Amino acid sequence: MAARGVALLTRVPLCAQGRGQIHRPIQRLLSCPGTVAADLKKEDQPSGNVETGSEDRILQKRFSEVQKERREQAQRTVLINCPDKMSEKKFLKYLSQHGPIKNHFFYENFGLHAVIEFCQKESVASLQDAACTPSLRREAAIPFRSRFFNLKLKNPLNQTSEQSSIQCCNQSPPSSKKLFELLCYADSIDDQLNTLLKEFQITEENAKLRHLTCSLIEDIAAAYFPYCTIRPFGSSVNSFGKLGCDLDMFLDLDETERLASQKTSGNFLMEFQVKNVSSERIATQKILSVIGECLDHFGPGCVGVQKILNARCPLVRFSQQTSGFQCDLTTNNRIALKSTELLYLYGALDSRVRALVFSVRCWARAHSLTSSIPGAWITNFSLTMMVIFFLQRRSPPVLPTLDYLKNLADTEDKCIIEGHNCTFTTDLNRIESSGNTETLELLLKEFFEYFGNFAFNKNSINIRQGREQNKPESSPLHIQNPFETSLNISKNVNQSQLQKFVDLARESAWILQQEDKDHPSPSSNQPWGLAALLLPSVSNGKSLAKRKKLASERVKNLLESIKSNNVENSINTNGKRRVSTQA
Ligand code: GTP
Ligand code: MG
Repeated sequence: MAARGVALLTRVPLCAQGRGQIHRPIQRLLSCPGTVAADLKKEDQPSGNVETGSEDRILQKRFSEVQKERREQAQRTVLINCPDKMSEKKFLKYLSQHGPIKNHFFYENFGLHAVIEFCQKESVASLQDAACTPSLRREAAIPFRSRFFNLKLKNPLNQTSEQSSIQCCNQSPPSSKKLFELLCYADSIDDQLNTLLKEFQITEENAKLRHLTCSLIEDIAAAYFPYCTIRPFGSSVNSFGKLGCDLDMFLDLDETERLASQKTSGNFLMEFQVKNVSSERIATQKILSVIGECLDHFGPGCVGVQKILNARCPLVRFSQQTSGFQCDLTTNNRIALKSTELLYLYGALDSRVRALVFSVRCWARAHSLTSSIPGAWITNFSLTMMVIFFLQRRSPPVLPTLDYLKNLADTEDKCIIEGHNCTFTTDLNRIESSGNTETLELLLKEFFEYFGNFAFNKNSINIRQGREQNKPESSPLHIQNPFETSLNISKNVNQSQLQKFVDLARESAWILQQEDKDHPSPSSNQPWGLAALLLPSVSNGKSLAKRKKLASERVKNLLESIKSNNVENSINTNGKRRVSTQA
């Protein structure tokens, strides 16, 4: 299975394109993320979830179109906590009395859950009308008509005869053991990177569950703000999310879309009477405060609600137990939505981008360079920016600069948020494909080498211009915020964390160089290539000793080759730049 899926993502020569005037490599079509059925061949898709239609048509959709479709799909969907033993056939038949079912899948999370997508929204209302509030013996229920239900069996014995095992979709990333096995049996380092991507990326079902969770929170927030929208952003939808990543949500109270569709005529303008507060920030805090209360009191499955209102970007953090997501709800940070769209675009431009970002993110996590706890660590967002920047620096570039994307924008793309120009083309078809054909193996090695030797003390990373610039301030790591250009997205990173990153990058480049020389056979069961990079490293004494041994062997070999006057040859035939392994 793995090999078949991976083959989907491998590069196809550009000459294989045959798409008339549209210059898009096939690799881009196959990897366009976040789109229904984009990453999986039909045979690899879980049952009950095969979308129909032309792949090309689907894959060319813009981020906003995909999100709109997902939102509409979520509004026709319900989540049902089911008894462990039941007949799937009878269950579906029972539900179809409310209308035809388009798709469904099951998953396990402290019990069996079914996600049911009806063909029509009316079916959801019909199901809600048929459902009742539970009457509890010892506790009291707060009535709330959501789209999350519990299914109870009236006559469990009736069902047992027809029970068949219900297939559950996996919602978690593979264990380290399984990942190492898969990586060790891969054919090449390129194959390893694609395997890692395939195993960690958000599945179609997980994406549906994320949108459904947003839709549920929207129902709750609508009690106060009937015209609100809850939009997912960040890695859940930017195509760089791993299974298990948090769910970032944006409470959108902007009514411009609704007002644009209403024709205002005559000399009058009707406004609501409202309460005024002294700043946007206070308004945001008040709104999030009531939504937080509401989630805490009425939100089914919403637990551990924390109102973090004094943060730079105020938020409400909670767990949605049924779907299993850790959620961060914010409002008034529209620029983050635009960054999400930009990352989605970069991820869709070339299949190597996501494969590289996933590997670098996993590498950073394996070495504790990133953490789920806030602190002086590098964030996944910053790492993604570093990969994009590196790919812009290749010759020829793999990715275009943000300024180039801005120049390709048309009037519809124009976007100014709080005075910041966030304009770039949102149409993938306008962007010419890269002439760069470097392998993932080479790119990964060069990534580590590039940042292992980057002049962090004087230079800033800037994806807008795609070139190093002098640092405007003294933070150890400076990555320019692509839209709020006076800000540094990695201001939190301290010198020791940056040094750890540099040391590990150098060491990883060195390990990959060794791979060129001695690549263990898959049957030897030795971690190699990407698997070797994910092993605990410098911090681990045992591993350090092993590496020291390797280093001394390397020096010995070098001395021997000098003796035999072969040193020139050994460097030239390798054709690789050397990396200093010193910090
Ligand atoms: P995960 O670690 O998988 O959650 O990645 P993520 O990209 O979702 O990161 P995170 O949850 O920390 O942030 C969500 C989104 O907020 C990011 O994707 C960015 O769009 C935005 N964001 C995060 N950090 C910053 C920052 O420092 N500056 C700006 N401008 N935006 C940020
Ligand atoms: Mg996130």
